[in-house]
Amino acid sequence: MKEQLEKIYQNASCDLEKVSSIAELEEIRGKYLSRKGEFNEIKKNLKNLSDEDKRVVGALANEITQKLESALRAKHDEFYKKELDEKLKQERIDITLPGKFTSQGREHLLTSTTNEIVSIFQSLGFSVVPKEHSPEVETEYYNFDALNVPKDHPARDVQDTFYTELASNVVLRSQTSGAQIHAMEGKNPPIRVIAPGRVYRNENINARKNNFFHQIEGLYVDKGVTFGDLKGVLNEFIRIYFGASRPTRFRNSFFPFTEPSAEIDVQCIMCEGKGCKICSGTGWLEILGAGMVDPNVLRGVGIDPDVYSGFAFGMGVERLAMLKYAVDDIRLFFNNDERFLKQF
Ligand code: PHE
Repeated sequence: MKEQLEKIYQNASCDLEKVSSIAELEEIRGKYLSRKGEFNEIKKNLKNLSDEDKRVVGALANEITQKLESALRAKHDEFYKKELDEKLKQERIDITLPGKFTSQGREHLLTSTTNEIVSIFQSLGFSVVPKEHSPEVETEYYNFDALNVPKDHPARDVQDTFYTELASNVVLRSQTSGAQIHAMEGKNPPIRVIAPGRVYRNENINARKNNFFHQIEGLYVDKGVTFGDLKGVLNEFIRIYFGASRPTRFRNSFFPFTEPSAEIDVQCIMCEGKGCKICSGTGWLEILGAGMVDPNVLRGVGIDPDVYSGFAFGMGVERLAMLKYAVDDIRLFFNNDERFLKQF
């Protein structure tokens, strides 16, 4: 029996030499050391031996199984380390490779310009109208009729205004001035509001014109509001926004909903008044239209023009941003080129 044990141990050692993976080790463990393994078969026969032999052979059997166990464990550790090393080598991450850059979003120049203008007017006592008073889709009533725009005015033409298929009188607003009507309807003065938002015009797109852009409307109605107030507020706005040194001019103009009306020009930043492509050679760029609210408009919303007066203005946000930051093409605001956007 002793010899038998030695023989099995030799075979097992031999097998162990040839092993090359953890899976094969497990096979050997099964073959020799499991319940149905070769050693157990021998141990089962121990009961037939004399007490003396039992002790000797039993001790030998234990010694041999322990030796085999520890040899298996050593091999196992060795393979485990080797397999792990290989795996790590394959999955190795090269930390010297440059990382993938994902750029962080930022406020769009039009958003920051709008916010800046809004906060200037807030500091002058104006508040922003609620969203529902400044919808981008309007009926002709708010975009034109209530603003005293005659039925045959060219601005109503489909060449200038986008009509929707929702109904024949529903348009994409061509100006934020409709917000004036929403702000006055059913309310008593004093009213002092601004309404920023997007407007749409059926334009051919070029460096100066896009078929949508942004305006900020303003309205102040109270007893005794004069053209002097209009000039005071708008000059103050320009002084804060552009700084005191930028030349500006008031020019008389016409709008159906204001009387008298004016436009404000700011000296062209690209040519400093000399005249260039951007300002069509005039040296000036218009930034806003304004005027005293026409009595017809006040009457239309139930405000007595003999008691109250007011002024209104509407300015182009893109224009104001272009003039402050020397942007020479309006399309840059909308084609989402990061090289442009990240400069601001
Ligand atoms: N709505 C006019 C425009 O888009 C601007 C304006 C607003 C003029 C308010 C007078 C008063 O050109």
